[in-house]
Amino acid sequence: MKQFNQTSQKIMLAIQITKASLLICFFFILWYLLYEQNKLFLTGEQANNTETLTEVHLSSPSTLSSNITLNTINNNDSIENPLNELKELNKRYCGNPTCKFLFVYNFGEQETKANLHFRSFSQLAEKLNRTMILTNVGSSQISVCQNFSFNLYYNVTLLKKEFPNVLYKSEDDFILWLKERDQIKNKLNNINNNEVIPPLSILHSNLRRYDITSETIYRNVKPVVSLSECLSKFGPFMNLTDPNNSRVKYTIMDITKFDLKTEQSRAKFSKLLIDDLSVNEEILLVNSYVLDPLFPVIMPVIPYNDYILNEAQKLKEKLSSSYIGIHWRLEQSRPELLPECAQGLIITLNKIMKEEGIENIYLATDYPLLSSSSQSDTFTKITNYHHDAIRMLNETFKINTWVSLGGLEQLRKNEKYDTEFIGPGIQGILDKLVCVNSNYFIAGPKGCSRILSTFTKAIADERSNRLDSGLLNVIDRWKIPL
Ligand SMILES: *[C@@H]1O[C@H](CO)[C@@H](O)[C@H](O)[C@H]1NC(C)=O
Ligand SMILES: *[C@@H]1O[C@H](CO)[C@@H](O)[C@H](O)[C@H]1NC(C)=O
Ligand SMILES: *[C@@H]1O[C@H](CO)[C@@H](O)[C@H](O)[C@H]1NC(C)=O
Ligand SMILES: *[C@@H]1O[C@H](CO)[C@@H](O)[C@H](O)[C@H]1NC(C)=O
Ligand SMILES: *[C@@H]1O[C@H](CO)[C@@H](O)[C@H](O)[C@H]1NC(C)=O
Ligand SMILES: *[C@@H]1O[C@H](CO)[C@@H](O)[C@H](O)[C@H]1NC(C)=O
Ligand SMILES: *[C@@H]1O[C@H](CO)[C@@H](O)[C@H](O)[C@H]1NC(C)=O
Ligand SMILES: *[C@@H]1O[C@H](CO)[C@@H](O)[C@H](O)[C@H]1NC(C)=O
Ligand SMILES: *[C@@H]1O[C@H](CO)[C@@H](O)[C@H](O)[C@H]1NC(C)=O
Repeated sequence: MKQFNQTSQKIMLAIQITKASLLICFFFILWYLLYEQNKLFLTGEQANNTETLTEVHLSSPSTLSSNITLNTINNNDSIENPLNELKELNKRYCGNPTCKFLFVYNFGEQETKANLHFRSFSQLAEKLNRTMILTNVGSSQISVCQNFSFNLYYNVTLLKKEFPNVLYKSEDDFILWLKERDQIKNKLNNINNNEVIPPLSILHSNLRRYDITSETIYRNVKPVVSLSECLSKFGPFMNLTDPNNSRVKYTIMDITKFDLKTEQSRAKFSKLLIDDLSVNEEILLVNSYVLDPLFPVIMPVIPYNDYILNEAQKLKEKLSSSYIGIHWRLEQSRPELLPECAQGLIITLNKIMKEEGIENIYLATDYPLLSSSSQSDTFTKITNYHHDAIRMLNETFKINTWVSLGGLEQLRKNEKYDTEFIGPGIQGILDKLVCVNSNYFIAGPKGCSRILSTFTKAIADERSNRLDSGLLNVIDRWKIPL
């Protein structure tokens, strides 16, 4: 009985507390409503705004002139200055109230040259004070048509160190910026029913060295209708053919090879380039085919990422850290000459092995190792001469390649990267690094090989920087036996 009493007392107490809280709640709400109303009124008064009550009209702004609209919305920061939200977005992405991008969506040529061009345009981005987009990579190219992010090939941390004044953003970041800008545009333009945020401003420029003019010419052109299909991946947020989305100007620069030939000519040319491309457009969209460096100073190769470097190190260890690197690019060889080329290579290899006591050879080649398609885009006509030459070599020595040594296994096992191993791809970078690390390096002579290969030259350049680390040569070319 006593216990029951205690319990009921507790219940009564609980009810009383609940009543009290409800009462407090009620007064609080009352106070809040009054306070809010007061605040609204105060805000108007403080702003000396005589149109305070037109606040109500916000939902039907179409009846207001733009002057009144601006007066009535000044209690909301982002609307008071409609551009604030865009400025905040830009600060977040570009560290500046305005974003200005340099997006070279196609660099032309294969990796070794594309690497050079990316550096040239990084220099341009610095001069133009623009955020540079890290264009996708794949199939040994740097291009918007590729499916992998820039860091599949490169070390972005080290790139940023090389160009500390350039801000880099991935394609994914760029898409996010476009999307957010589009959202802000739609929201603010709808509220105000006018163009608070204009469409994207874009300058699309074709920079090309086709040598079709005798002097470099920069000119406006009509809208280019045959733009890369791959740009459509930015739609609908960036759509060059939708005037509601973007206002696009088109230009072409035809560059002559003389302008890019020497340090002095490039010094002059690059000033012109900077002048011509110093524009206000938010996005400078460039399709590049420039073949040569654009600036007098040529920056060091963009470093490859740790994954590829480690693979190169792994292959080196599998070759007992002692091997002759061979670069044999069969493209542009004279097929009928190939049997003699193979013979010459065999003679040379025997000689080096004997003289230097090296037992292993590593072959970097555009000859198809994995599939029937070659490891170069431009090398398509593979004949029996080619097959016989490689067979001859293979019957004489144990040929090691990135395939036979199990290089890049992790990527090869992942079907996401299947396309990368059809034709040229990341394996080209691996080949290059393994050849750079080789104790002795030889490449094909004229007639047997493409002689002006920038790939071969890149290997030689890198080796000449490392000669003091015990390499036996920079580059030798074997000979065709007489
Ligand atoms: C409002 O107007 C008064 C006098 O007209 C002025 O002193 C005051 O600074 C104004 N307040 C604001 C917030 O502009
Ligand atoms: C807006 O204000 C400006 C300057 O005060 C005035 O000239 C213009 O007529 C106004 N526009 C409207 C639609 O009231
Ligand atoms: C201002 O307006 C925007 C858009 O209507 C809204 O998202 C935001 O929350 C508002 N800010 C404030 C402080 O009321
Ligand atoms: C780059 O542009 C921003 C504004 O967009 C400016 O604040 C900065 O000073 C510029 N830097 C150079 C080096 O011109
Ligand atoms: C990129 O991916 C798409 C869709 O998966 C595919 O159709 C296309 O061929 C790929 N592009 C390249 C260059 O591999
Ligand atoms: C771009 O805009 C045009 C015209 O509005 C439209 O036909 C096309 O489908 C759009 N493309 C993309 C990728 O959004
Ligand atoms: C652009 O926007 C206007 C107004 O919203 C609309 O009438 C027109 O159809 C749009 N044009 C395109 C190409 O989408
Ligand atoms: C980039 O290089 C730095 C310094 O060598 C290294 O610490 C880092 O792991 C590398 N990052 C990648 C993704 O390769
Ligand atoms: C060399 O011969 C071996 C054994 O017949 C074969 O597995 C390998 O694929 C050949 N290498 C090349 C580069 O053709």
